Amino acid sequence: MKAGVIGHPIAHSKSPLIHGHWLGQYNIKGLYRAIDIAPENLKDGIKQLVDEGYDGFNVTVPHKQSIMQYCDDINETACAIGAVNTVVIKDSKLYGQNTDAYGFIQNIKSSKPEFYFKNKTAFVLGAGGAARAVVYGLIEEGVSRIYLSNRTKETAQELGQMSDIIEVVEWNKRETVLQSMDLVVNTTSLGMVGKPPLDMDLTALKYGALVHDIVYAPLMTPLLSEAQDKGYEIVSGIGMLLHQARPAFKAWTGIMPEVTDALVKKVLA
Ligand code: ATR
Repeated sequence: MKAGVIGHPIAHSKSPLIHGHWLGQYNIKGLYRAIDIAPENLKDGIKQLVDEGYDGFNVTVPHKQSIMQYCDDINETACAIGAVNTVVIKDSKLYGQNTDAYGFIQNIKSSKPEFYFKNKTAFVLGAGGAARAVVYGLIEEGVSRIYLSNRTKETAQELGQMSDIIEVVEWNKRETVLQSMDLVVNTTSLGMVGKPPLDMDLTALKYGALVHDIVYAPLMTPLLSEAQDKGYEIVSGIGMLLHQARPAFKAWTGIMPEVTDALVKKVLA
């Protein structure tokens, strides 16, 4: 396997560690590199990867949308989400996919196997790139209703066009819908190291609800701490990062890798 992750900056990426771990675990010869490509060099940077015989690459900030113009094919999921995070190169052609929705759903399923999405009501905070994947995943899993709240209302309204089960909630009224939510997902960057916490009192949240934060640094965000203290089920964000990497590894090697405790420990170290 010859693969990597392209982004700018890219030094912080955990992907080389994850894929490197799997290459070792499954005894596959190969490499997975972090490749810094500035936006203005994207076209040439990709051409170089094709010329060097790469099997594909992951795509991160700021290229997830701009890569789409260079793909020969984009699958249905990536089209609906509006971003590509995984590219497979075959016969010098680029096939774009998006595995973020899969990563989000699989993380919850593997952490809370007893949680069923069907006919549930979900509350998504944020309307950026991550939110688009989260909302797409929830729709695919058959939730009956999605409430969506974002600081910039227009972005939420735009994402709301993905499905008529989505209802936009004013940002300053976000606490008012909590009583009927089965699942709350923070996709904003609030709660991340160096950012203020997501200011939301969970007192009114429905009994038994599941609270998920896609922020994983810190692992235990203020939102998750509060949810846990109040007796709600919680799922942290690190699993989304690990699970979204699995279909990419499979696309390049044919092997669907597992997320083991050893891998989680390594990534959190
Ligand atoms: P990602 O790809 O991780 O989703 P993004 O597209 O930059 O990143 O989206 C970041 C999200 O966090 C957005 O929903 C953003 O809200 P805006 O659309 O209003 O910018 C949200 N966000 C970031 N900082 C925020 C803050 N201080 N208060 C509220 N929301 C914030």
